[in-house]
Amino acid sequence: MKKIGVLFVILTLVGSIAVLAAQFSIYDWWTAGGEKQAITAELNYFHQLYPNIKIAQNPVAGGAGVNMHAVIKSLIFAGLPPTTFQVHAGWEMYEYTSANLLDPITNLWKSEGWTKVFPKRIQELCSYRGQYYAVPMDIHRANMLWYNMSIFKKLGLKIPTTFQGLMNVMAKIKAAGYTPLAVGDRYQWPAAMVFEEPLLAIAGPKTYDEFFQGKVNYSNSKVKEALKDFRYIMEHYVNVNHASLTWDQACGLVANGKAAMTIMGDWANGYFMGLGLKAGINYGAVPVPGSQGVYNLVIDAFPVPRGLSPTEKEYAYDWLKTIATVKGQAIFNRIKGSIPARIDVPTTGFNSVQVVNMEELKKDILVASAVHGSEAPAPFVTAWENALTVVEYHPSMPLEQAVKYLNGVNGRYLTPKELVH
Ligand code: GAL
Repeated sequence: MKKIGVLFVILTLVGSIAVLAAQFSIYDWWTAGGEKQAITAELNYFHQLYPNIKIAQNPVAGGAGVNMHAVIKSLIFAGLPPTTFQVHAGWEMYEYTSANLLDPITNLWKSEGWTKVFPKRIQELCSYRGQYYAVPMDIHRANMLWYNMSIFKKLGLKIPTTFQGLMNVMAKIKAAGYTPLAVGDRYQWPAAMVFEEPLLAIAGPKTYDEFFQGKVNYSNSKVKEALKDFRYIMEHYVNVNHASLTWDQACGLVANGKAAMTIMGDWANGYFMGLGLKAGINYGAVPVPGSQGVYNLVIDAFPVPRGLSPTEKEYAYDWLKTIATVKGQAIFNRIKGSIPARIDVPTTGFNSVQVVNMEELKKDILVASAVHGSEAPAPFVTAWENALTVVEYHPSMPLEQAVKYLNGVNGRYLTPKELVH
């Protein structure tokens, strides 16, 4: 009996060692069309460069990382950190750095010369208290409007230059019998973009930043206008089944001509390309009218968690070096719909939306997306998105009452204490 017990313990130990043997374990949330192909292509490139590293990819469905971060935190607290994981640079990353869960990689940034090839603003977002903690894989743009070109042609419509103009266009599209704006907010964040991007377009980048810094609230006339438009759009202009769809299913409505437009980051570009559609022929893309000249950044980055074995740490560094190369950035971003975070990647192989965005990034005013983790603390973002849902689902609540309620939420979550990092 005793012998069997000992044997059992030995076998269990051997089993767990086999399971824990060094491998490259990576977590991301890229499961939709376009983004899935992009990460697969990058992992294939990594495998080509390092054929001996065993890769374990762990995609956790739920755009914008809504589900993945809970998984990462459980793993870290169980003492089993993954080798690396997708994180938005900025506040989402600070959640980990402020709890001392990531290893600084400043030496790697310096020895690889990355301080010379990534834009300064991106470097700031990848840093915390003077140290670098992550490497950017891409630059996405949140303030984009995607539209079905044949619907626009058929109705003789043009994309306007102001957000008010866009509201008028939506009214015309509705009158013609189409859904003006596709939304898929099964996970809340795509609806929050229908507030965030109009806010940027209507109030401008300065007030936008001040709003997320708690210096301005919904009582500001421009913010109030964005709130009013958000509620009006969600009540009158979106697909009735919006709450049961995901972001990519909403893009699907634009692709198949059921809806005329959608407000979404340029991962939508990757989604449309994945369907074989052509920018400028099947679908058009512009900055959300009113936000021309402003680039709302969404940065996907990869860090190195604390507590890795020396071999795992080496694998993590190998991955970071791969994604930071000109080739690594080109392979991923061409498919993803985004643009490279490096400024020296040639435009070859990128589509027209990407080439325009590469140009505009150089001259535009840069802000960062709150919905996509960079601009504001995570507890605020969750509370803010929940609160927007409340006023969205109560369209009869008078605007002033909604303003008062939402100001209360902002006041609780955007205090000077919350905003320290
Ligand atoms: C964003 C992320 C993008 C894209 C999108 C939808 O938060 O930065 O890379 O994947 O979510 O999943």
